[in-house]
Amino acid sequence: MTIAQACLLVLLVLIYQIGHDQVVSLDNGLALTPPMGWMHWERFRCITNCTEQPNDCLTEDLIKSQADKMVSEGYRDAGYQYLSIDDCWMAKERDSKGTLVPDPVRFPSGMKALADYIHGKGLKLGIYEDFGTATCQEYPGSEFYLQKDAQTFADWGVDLLKLDGCNSNVNDMKTGYEAMGQFLNKTGRPILYLCSWPAYVQKMPALTDYPAFKKTCNQWRNYDDIQDSWDSLYSIIDYYGSNQYNLSAYAGPGSWNDPDELIVGGFGLSSGQEVVQMGMWAMMASPLFMSLDLRNVRPESKALLLNKNLLAINQDPLGKQAIRVWKINKVEVWIKPLSKPGASAFAIINTDDEGDPRVFHLSPAELGLPQTAQYNMTDVLTNEHFGPFLYSQSIKFTINPTSIFIAIADPS
Ligand code: GAL
Repeated sequence: MTIAQACLLVLLVLIYQIGHDQVVSLDNGLALTPPMGWMHWERFRCITNCTEQPNDCLTEDLIKSQADKMVSEGYRDAGYQYLSIDDCWMAKERDSKGTLVPDPVRFPSGMKALADYIHGKGLKLGIYEDFGTATCQEYPGSEFYLQKDAQTFADWGVDLLKLDGCNSNVNDMKTGYEAMGQFLNKTGRPILYLCSWPAYVQKMPALTDYPAFKKTCNQWRNYDDIQDSWDSLYSIIDYYGSNQYNLSAYAGPGSWNDPDELIVGGFGLSSGQEVVQMGMWAMMASPLFMSLDLRNVRPESKALLLNKNLLAINQDPLGKQAIRVWKINKVEVWIKPLSKPGASAFAIINTDDEGDPRVFHLSPAELGLPQTAQYNMTDVLTNEHFGPFLYSQSIKFTINPTSIFIAIADPS
């Protein structure tokens, strides 16, 4: 073999390996429908003073109590699978070998034991890290430790990693997040990969690379953190409505836009506003990560989180993210095509906060539904069937302030 031939051979092997690695990292076989679970952050934050707040403190007992309720209250059987611990679970330093350790006081049994407990309940364990030098709450970050941390998580039996992006350089994120995806795959353990990278670069067009997000991550945050209020909730919905063609094109089996956790069952929303969130997360094929205290849930919030029709819309195997078809005078219509031929889910949101319910007369054509002779409708919340309606026939909808109407429109 000549030197030139040998060089060519080495080059071909390298190209094959790079290509091979990329293929592996693209498809981990997970999240064929939007992932569902519970995540501690929005409700329990970084509460680490267990003397001051014993009931809300982030401990292994808190996580176990939520796991127990996920099973006993029927959330697991409805599809909520992952139980995900967010920031503030770690000790402030790595150990002498550079391995991450959980806070010894709040997680005395260690993460492997907690994973075993969670798995014993038929659930999966999620964990949080950060691509930078420190997490957003200043716990040890994964920069310079990506491979080691991926292996640690796999050894513990972790099933989901949320990788945040505080304390890092946005220019390094693409390489870093891709590398972590490959290290996770190399562990051989299927680990759902949640990326915050897009949220950090969303205002930087040169770094907003949706094909790369989709290739690398199972779900990705695009926008600001959700807070426990209508303003925060609606700002997220409106962000998706305003950027929808960019965003919806990349949602589908294996990879999803993530508008952040469900705040249903928290302190800040009215009952109608809770339906808006649950309804829109279903419409947008969003990952459904509840963030509430499962030990104490209002019956109507629980019913909403377990609503079979909404969950079926969210989990529809076609995996299409709804598009906002129009927004006029504080009313907007969203449409999500469903896997049943010709069928769509549609939502009408009344964002007006004046106290009176508003009445709308809209035909399927005016709603923006695909053209067909007629539609039968099912109100998703009441399960009531109505119609059939001709394509141009007006239908009366009455919707409360900051509330939503959601139905399935089916030509058959
Ligand atoms: C934010 C992230 C939140 C939460 C928090 C923890 O950057 O968007 O979802 O993880 O960090 O510190």
